[in-house]
Amino acid sequence: MKEKIREILNTIENFNADSIDELENFRIKYLSKKGIIPALFGEFKNVAPDIRKEMGMALNDLKNKTQEKLNLIKQEIDSKSTSGQQQDVDLSMPVDFMDLGSRHPLSIVRRQILDIFARIGFTISEGPEVEDDWHNFEALNFIEEHPARDMQDTFFIDDKDEKVVLRTHTSSVQVRVMQNQQPPIRTVSPGRVFRNEAISARAHCIFHQVEGLYVDHKVSFADLKQTLYYFAREFFGEKTKIRLRPSYFPFTEPSAEVDISCNICGGKGCNICKYTGWVEILGCGMVDPEVLENCNINSKEYTGYAFGMGIERITMLKYQVNDLRLFFENDLRFLKQFQSAL
Ligand code: PHE
Repeated sequence: MKEKIREILNTIENFNADSIDELENFRIKYLSKKGIIPALFGEFKNVAPDIRKEMGMALNDLKNKTQEKLNLIKQEIDSKSTSGQQQDVDLSMPVDFMDLGSRHPLSIVRRQILDIFARIGFTISEGPEVEDDWHNFEALNFIEEHPARDMQDTFFIDDKDEKVVLRTHTSSVQVRVMQNQQPPIRTVSPGRVFRNEAISARAHCIFHQVEGLYVDHKVSFADLKQTLYYFAREFFGEKTKIRLRPSYFPFTEPSAEVDISCNICGGKGCNICKYTGWVEILGCGMVDPEVLENCNINSKEYTGYAFGMGIERITMLKYQVNDLRLFFENDLRFLKQFQSAL
C-alpha cells in the first residue's frame, strides 16, 4: 500500500490540466466516491495494526495534496479565462508614444502678438470674414471709385441688394468696434483676410492680419510710435530699432510704414533685407477724423491711432521662412519644426 500511495502522489504532483473538463475527470478519477483515493481508504481496514498509524497519515496526506492540487489548477484556469488576452501582454514593454501635434507657426505668432498687446491693455475683437462694402471700404474713406480700392484686390460676392465682399483687411473689425463702443477703445483684431492676388512665394489670396486701434482723449503720434517700438522689441528682441516712412492709407492721416532693423543680419545687410538693413513690418497712422465721425465718435474730442500687420510676414521674418506658400501646404516636415508653449 505504501508503494501505491507513493506512485499516486507522484502522478498527482506531475498532473496538469488546461481545461475544466480535464480537471473534472481528474477529480472523478481520484476523489469521487468510487475514485482511487476513497478506494484506498476502503482498503485501510486490511492494513496491519503496526503500520496503521503511518498508513493513515500517508493516506490523509495524499487526499489533502490531491485536493490542494485540484484547487490550484482550478485557480489557474479561472484566472486565464477572466483576464483573457492579458496573459499575452508584456507589461515591461515600452509604450508607443502618441504622435502629438504642434501648433501651426501662424497660430504661435498670432498668440505672441496678441499677448504682447494684451500686456499693455489691448482687448481682442473679431468680426465677420464676409463683410459689407461699408465696413470694409466706405466707412474707412474708400469712397466709390476711389483709386485706393485698387490697392486691395477685392473678391466680390454677388448680392442684389447690397455690395458684399470678402474682407480685404481687419480694419473692418475696428469700424465695428467704434460703432458699438465709445472711447477709450484699445483693441487688436486678428483674422483672415482675402485678396485676389496670384499665389507666389511672397503673396497669397488668403492671409492673416492683426490690426490695432487706440482711440481716447489726446492720443498722439508719439504714443503710436512708442507702442510700435515696444512691440518690435518684445517680439524681435531688445536690440531691435524701428523707423517710420511716410505712406498713404485712406483711413489714416498722417500715415506711415514701419521698418525694423533686420533681425537676421542685425542691420549689416543681407538678402532678407535686400542689403538695406531694414525690413518693413506694418502700416500705421492716426485715424482720420472723418473715419471717427463715420462711426459716431466725436473727432473734436477724441483722436486715435491704428496699425496693421500681416501675420505671415512677421512669421517669415521671425523664423526665416522664405516661401509663404509653406504656411498653407500643411506639410508635416515643415510644421513639426515649430514647437511652442504658447
Ligand atoms: N489695413 C491696412 C492694410 O491692410 C493696414 C493698416 C491698418 C494701415 C491700420 C494703417 C492703419 O494694408
